[in-house]
Amino acid sequence: MAKNRSTFVCQACGSAYPRWAGRCEACGEWNSIVEEATVQEAGSKLSRRGKRIEFAPLEGSEPEPPRRPTEVGELDRVTGGGLVRGSALLVGGDPGIGKSTLLLQAVASLASGPKGAPCAYISGEEAIEQVRLRARRLGVSGAKVELAAATSVADIVATLDRLDPPAVVVIDSIQTMALDTLDSAPGTVAQVRASAQELIRVAKRRGFVLMLVGHVTKEGVIAGPRVLEHMVDAVLYFEGDRGHQFRILRAVKNRFGPTDEIGVFEMTDRGLMEVPNPSELFLAERRGNVSGTAVFAGIEGTRPVLVEVQALVSASPLATPRRAVVGWDSGRLAMVLAVLEARCGLAFAGNEVYLNIAGGLRISEPAADLAVAAALVSSLSGRPVPEDMVVFGEIGLSGEVRSVSQADLRLKEAAKLGFARALVPPSRRRREGAAAPLRTVEIAHLQDIVDIVGPGARSVSARRERLPG
Ligand code: TYD
Ligand code: MG
Repeated sequence: MAKNRSTFVCQACGSAYPRWAGRCEACGEWNSIVEEATVQEAGSKLSRRGKRIEFAPLEGSEPEPPRRPTEVGELDRVTGGGLVRGSALLVGGDPGIGKSTLLLQAVASLASGPKGAPCAYISGEEAIEQVRLRARRLGVSGAKVELAAATSVADIVATLDRLDPPAVVVIDSIQTMALDTLDSAPGTVAQVRASAQELIRVAKRRGFVLMLVGHVTKEGVIAGPRVLEHMVDAVLYFEGDRGHQFRILRAVKNRFGPTDEIGVFEMTDRGLMEVPNPSELFLAERRGNVSGTAVFAGIEGTRPVLVEVQALVSASPLATPRRAVVGWDSGRLAMVLAVLEARCGLAFAGNEVYLNIAGGLRISEPAADLAVAAALVSSLSGRPVPEDMVVFGEIGLSGEVRSVSQADLRLKEAAKLGFARALVPPSRRRREGAAAPLRTVEIAHLQDIVDIVGPGARSVSARRERLPG
């Protein structure tokens, strides 16, 4: 027997309650509980009503999805080799970070590439003249891109729902789009979701690539791109520091490719320039022989990236000294500080500690631990980490240094950029005769770092070094 009942469901976390409440006990959200009617049927009746679904084997003969490279190399790297037909991408980022510029450059490159794909750029934020001015500034006015200024999803769908739609359609931005069948204002969660759903549906049906721009917003009336993440095939975030010229494109979700690749761009007055070798750029402003800095040999996706880790440890008049981190995880910094105090006897308690990854890059690899520790110890002691040295390694809670992946690739990149020495974790497999591209100093315990750059350190050359060859 069917039983009609209603439950009260939190829209934020999905917890269900038998009666309404102002605050969800599970997630703490206020005013998120909404009544939902549920029809519960006895299991046997439901199974009589449903049809059997057919199962298929895991193995099949589907070809790789066809990709359309944009010829913007860094964008292709992040998407996994180009845009997949019929897929929907979301490009999120803070207002003013350069999303419109990036996508205009991408469609212009696609349209004037060897295949000359027809592209459309629909702006809900800027007038046609403004987009034209930008195209002229970027030097892409000649590209065959169809421009429109529109905000009505019904009009856009009616235009695109035809047999020969453009190959790539950019919607800038989804927060300006609206369906007139909904009461709510453009930019609200309901409008953003419904508009995206209609646009994605027509993209899947007609097989064009849909690129949605989404502004990241502070909590407020405008819905951020987060509410769309589950609906699209790929989510790319465009990030960077307003004060820096670097911009980093990062995939946080990708149904057709990897999610750990980053694309690096440099912002110029003629638009975004690709940076195929980011290490050179990130180290460009480095001043050697300064205490409190260490060069970390990192890996972003498949590419080695060298960055400078900067630390400043200074005496504090405050009872609880400040700890501030830019570009790294503050929890991880607290751990490295605790290990340095507990296992190496250093004292940071009365000091403020600032940590910065130069150039605006954000690092999430644990392999940066050792470089962070080196920068911290160096700042505390005032002794610089040798200028020609890179550092990488993960730190365990007992102060041991653990090996990290792709050590060879990191060393090769460091050698390419002119570094002569590297502080590395002990290698598990010492390959006989394997040539390291530079001299490596194996660090088994954090104490070894203190011995090298800490107060009262011996010279680094006194330590056991492994020579190349
Ligand atoms: P814009 O692409 O409009 O940012 P978004 O669409 O994310 O809001 O860029 C913001 C401003 O920065 C715009 O005035 C142009 C300028 N800009 C440059 O001058 N050079 C560049 O390479 C980029 C990306 C932006
Ligand atoms: Mg814009």
